[in-house]
Order: sequence, then structure tokens, then C-alpha cells
Amino acid sequence: MKIGVPKEIKNNESRVGMTPAGVFELIKNNHTVYVQQDAGFGSGFFDTDYAVVGAILVPTAAEVYANSDMIVKVKEPVAEEYPLIKKGQIVFTYFHFASSEELTIAMLESKSICIAYETVEETDGSLPLLTPMSEVAGRMAIQQGAKYLEKPIKGRGVLLGGVPGVPPGKVLVLGAGIVGIQAAKMAAGLGAHVTILDINMKRLRYVNDVMPSHVVTEFSSEYNIRRHIKNHDLIIGAVLIPGAKAPKLITRDMLKEMHPGTVMVDVAVDQGGCFETTVATTHENPTYIIDDVVHYCVANMPGAVPYTSTLALTNVTLPYVLKLANLGWKAATERYPDLSKGLNIVEGEIVYKELAETFNFS
Ligand SMILES: NC(=O)c1ccc[n+]([C@@H]2O[C@H](COP(=O)([O-])OP(=O)(O)OC[C@H]3O[C@@H](n4cnc5c(N)ncnc54)[C@H](O)[C@@H]3O)[C@@H](O)[C@H]2O)c1
Repeated sequence: MKIGVPKEIKNNESRVGMTPAGVFELIKNNHTVYVQQDAGFGSGFFDTDYAVVGAILVPTAAEVYANSDMIVKVKEPVAEEYPLIKKGQIVFTYFHFASSEELTIAMLESKSICIAYETVEETDGSLPLLTPMSEVAGRMAIQQGAKYLEKPIKGRGVLLGGVPGVPPGKVLVLGAGIVGIQAAKMAAGLGAHVTILDINMKRLRYVNDVMPSHVVTEFSSEYNIRRHIKNHDLIIGAVLIPGAKAPKLITRDMLKEMHPGTVMVDVAVDQGGCFETTVATTHENPTYIIDDVVHYCVANMPGAVPYTSTLALTNVTLPYVLKLANLGWKAATERYPDLSKGLNIVEGEIVYKELAETFNFS
């Protein structure tokens, strides 16, 4: 099969859909790979790295699309990419169709085969192509939180690990899912005292089993949240109710109960946020302050660490890319039910029930 890897052109997106290691595997399997020049630059992969493993470097996105049976990307196509997508071409990427009717219509009109990373689903309901980005965001939440606790950027002036003779900072993590556990682990590694709350006892039991004793689990309730916010320095919002908006666990009135300079990182901002005062921010301008509380609410946190994020993402996408390339999309999705869940649009028809319902296309 001929596989194409265009350069991402969405604002602030530096990741790339395939690393030189992925190209190497595809070529080993007798496929041809077209990579747009500079596609990997933002993630630390140079054209020479791709060329050395056998990729064909082409200067424009138009040539990548024109030459390829399958396009492997990171973000959903933007308007200028729509006309490049061909009838019958496989497009394997994050689509998040539900948030854009325009994109959905454009892909229907293209008559391509759209396989969305975010809906590839294993039999236990887990989403293997979303997990690595939650892992990145969870770990990054502590790195960012520790930075914004510094006084010159309006934080409380607390060093999370403390020093001999001075107690460590206190981190409150709301949600013990993928983001929350990675955040707790990083905070614990820095020596901070960590309190992690969830409503799912299985998650709390797991955390209690695997984390050191300075990570304390508690059942999530408004009472417990109100009690803890008074004496924690960094609060991480990491809750998710699948398919729904995040519950507002920290309301505006609670900010007055916190120490001035407390930092709140709302990782759940992409689901509306779990703080009442959350407003989505960008990497250029990541924070704002309300009632002396620093808010960090960046909706695409992994975008700031494209080297790590690209590797984490392509580690999990490559096995699926190989199945699609080796078998073709029809046989691959028939044989692998997890991959078949990724099918959203096939040659002008919506095949993912929830998507059809979203826009009443059923
Ligand atoms: N901002 C970003 O860049 C970024 C990146 C990756 C993921 N995310 C988002 O982070 C959020 C968390 O993702 P995840 O992968 O950890 O989800 P997850 O499903 O693994 O974990 C969510 C946890 O929240 C818990 N929860 C639900 N209601 C709760 C409540 N009232 N109190 C406490 N806990 C509660 C659930 O029981 C679950 O354990 C999602 O909204 C996801 O989209 C954001």
C-alpha cells in the first residue's frame, strides 16, 4: 500500500503521524511511504531520518495526498486539506467529528474512509489511542503546577518537594483515572503530599495498592473537597464522566476558601472543565487569576511536548497502521473488532451510530 504522512498545519500542532521507526516497519512490510518535507521537524525528526529508512520525501501536502492510499495524521483535517482527500482514501487520525458538523460534511463529501483514533475501542471499553495523551497530560499537570506555584508567576511560592526542615507542598487530585494516577505519581515522585479523590472504589483500591503511603485516597464528595481545598497548594482536575460534561466539583465560592496563590490545573477542560471558573486557555497564554487563585486550563496539553507525545501516540497507532496497510481497511476491520470501532465514515456514509445521532444524519 502507499501511505502518506503530511505535515500537520493546525495551529500550534507540532506532532507528526509517523516516526522514522514507523516508516521503517512499513517499508519492511513492502509498503511505500510518502512523507511531506519538514513533517517531523516539530517533533525532533528530520527529513534525513525519514530518508535513511526509505521514505520518499515530497515538498507539498498535495503530493502526499495524491500519491497515497492511506493518510496517517494526528489532528483532524482542516479546511484547506478537505479538497486533497480522495474518494476511497483511508484517513487514519483524530477526528472528533462530534465537535464539527462542517468537518463531518466535508468527509462525507470526500467519499473517503475515515477511521478515528478516538473511537478505536477494546472489548473492555478502553480507548487505546486516547490513553497515551491522558498519560502525557497527567504527568505534565504536575510539571506545570509546580512551575506556576512559583512566586514570580503569582503562585503561592511553595516548592512541592519541600526541603529538610520544611514540609512538602500538598497536591489534591480530583479523579483517579489515567490522568489522575499519572499526576499523583509525578507529585509523589517530587516528594509532595498527595490526596486523590474518586467516586469509584475500584480505582481508589488500585491507587492505594500501588502508590507510596504519602499518596492518600479518599472518597470524592463535596464535603471532602471543601475540607481539602483550604490547605492544598496545587489542585488537579482529572475527572471524566464518559460522554457527558465534567461535573463542576470546585465552584466559584470555594476559591475564597483557598490560600492566595493556590494553583488549579483543569485537565478536564476539554469536557467543559470540572471547575466552575474554568475557561479554556492556550500554550501562548496558559493561565489567568480569579480571586488570587491561578488557573491553568490548556485544552491540548500534550501539544507542548511534541517529541514525547509523538512517540507515545505512534507507539500505539503503528500496530493499527500495519494492520490496515497489510490487509486493507475492509479485511482489517472485519478481523479486528477494536479497529472496526474506529470506522466513522465510509465512502459517504456515517457508520458510527453516535455520530449519526449527533447531527441527526440517521
Ligand atoms: N487538557 C488536555 O490536554 C487533556 C489531555 C488528555 C485528557 N484530557 C481529559 O482529562 C480528563 C480525564 O481523562 P482520563 O483519561 O483520566 O479519564 P478516566 O476515565 O481514566 O478517569 C476519570 C476518573 O474520574 C472519576 N470521576 C468521575 N466523577 C468523579 C467525581 N465526582 N469525583 C471524583 N472523581 C470522579 C472516574 O471515576 C474516573 O476514575 C478527560 O476529560 C480527558 O478528555 C485532557
